[in-house]
Amino acid sequence: MKYKSILITGGAGFIGSHVVRLFVNKYPDIRIINLDKLTYAGNLANLKDIEDCPNYQFVKADICDFETVRDIIRRNEVDAIVHLAAESHVDRSITDPFLFARVNVMGTLTLLEAARQVWEIEGWEGKRYYQISTDEVYGALQFDGTLFTETTRYDPHSPYSAAKASADHFVRAYHDTYGMPTVISNCSNNYGPFQFPEKLIPLFLNNIRFRKPLPVYGKGENVRDWLYVVDHARAIDLILHEGQVAETYNIGGFNEWKNIDLIKVLIQTADRLLGRAEGEDLDLITYVADRKGHDLRYAIDSTKIATELGWKPSVTFEQGIELTIRWYLEHQDWLDNVTSGDYLQYYEKMYGNC
Ligand code: NAD
Ligand code: TYD
Repeated sequence: MKYKSILITGGAGFIGSHVVRLFVNKYPDIRIINLDKLTYAGNLANLKDIEDCPNYQFVKADICDFETVRDIIRRNEVDAIVHLAAESHVDRSITDPFLFARVNVMGTLTLLEAARQVWEIEGWEGKRYYQISTDEVYGALQFDGTLFTETTRYDPHSPYSAAKASADHFVRAYHDTYGMPTVISNCSNNYGPFQFPEKLIPLFLNNIRFRKPLPVYGKGENVRDWLYVVDHARAIDLILHEGQVAETYNIGGFNEWKNIDLIKVLIQTADRLLGRAEGEDLDLITYVADRKGHDLRYAIDSTKIATELGWKPSVTFEQGIELTIRWYLEHQDWLDNVTSGDYLQYYEKMYGNC
């Protein structure tokens, strides 16, 4: 399917910025609109290299603002929406669940309804609404080798995953009720450049650099399935253009890591790149109280997207993690900027506070 005008929400965030960059470069004839509220997690510095491209447009807006969103869709003749904007950090959802319901549930519903009001009149033909979801909606696995498939029952545990699951249900309801051409993908943990340093990998790399303690939740035995963010962006491109309406696609790298083992890789690699004795910083590991309701294990079966759409990761984990660790160590200015909050003041001056 070929689109004229693609609206990407949350394009100033971690994954969204990789999707925007890929689309702007790959589709010079398609208008790419990045709608982002620029919360603490949104940073236009992530998109410096493409901000002047003629097919790219940034709009500072809140997905919960119905009239603004509908106006953007109508005025720009948007025929495809890739919805990434969300509150994304599990720990924050535990302390502020209302915010997660507002943004992740009501924000998604607002976007769906705004699109319906425009597209139902224009006709559904050639339109696509794409929901970017997470493997966390499936709940937690035991250490038994099982994997999440597209038919695994939703069983979310955290306020974050409950809100994402609820949003996915609304997306399916809009397909079943109104006939909206929707598609959903559920991806595992992403890693790579431009991730806000509240998440495990960038937080720990920043702490290693300054020899600060590394807070490992519980015993560090929880397992996550890590995928390089650029490979997620490539999968999103493929699903948007070739995925079937009303289908779900799981995306993951068959790459499970126990947290503590991954943390040791981070320390050893960072030490080597920083010219320190390898493993010198292992004593920074500090076991702290476990996260409430901490899901034990996530692991994705991505056979469907591989066999039906021909997707496979472009880098191995060894390549991706080395690239990522180097990137954070070489972009301390980016980390300093986002951790100091300087960028928020800069954007408020430029775009006001919506
Ligand atoms: P992120 O926190 O880095 O970025 C979220 C972006 O959304 C930010 O730019 C923020 O400014 C914007 N935003 C937040 N609230 C908004 C609002 N009300 N209106 C407009 N914009 C708003 O998140 P991320 O890690 O890039 O995740 C992006 C999406 O991918 C999310 O939907 C998340 O659930 C999903 N996902 C993430 C992962 C992961 O490992 N990070 C894995 C699977 C799925
Ligand atoms: P995170 O990056 O927050 O992603 P998610 O919770 O969405 O999987 O956390 C990845 C894993 O690392 C998760 O099991 C929680 C753990 N973790 C820590 O042990 N310490 C930390 O400081 C953080 C942020 C996460």
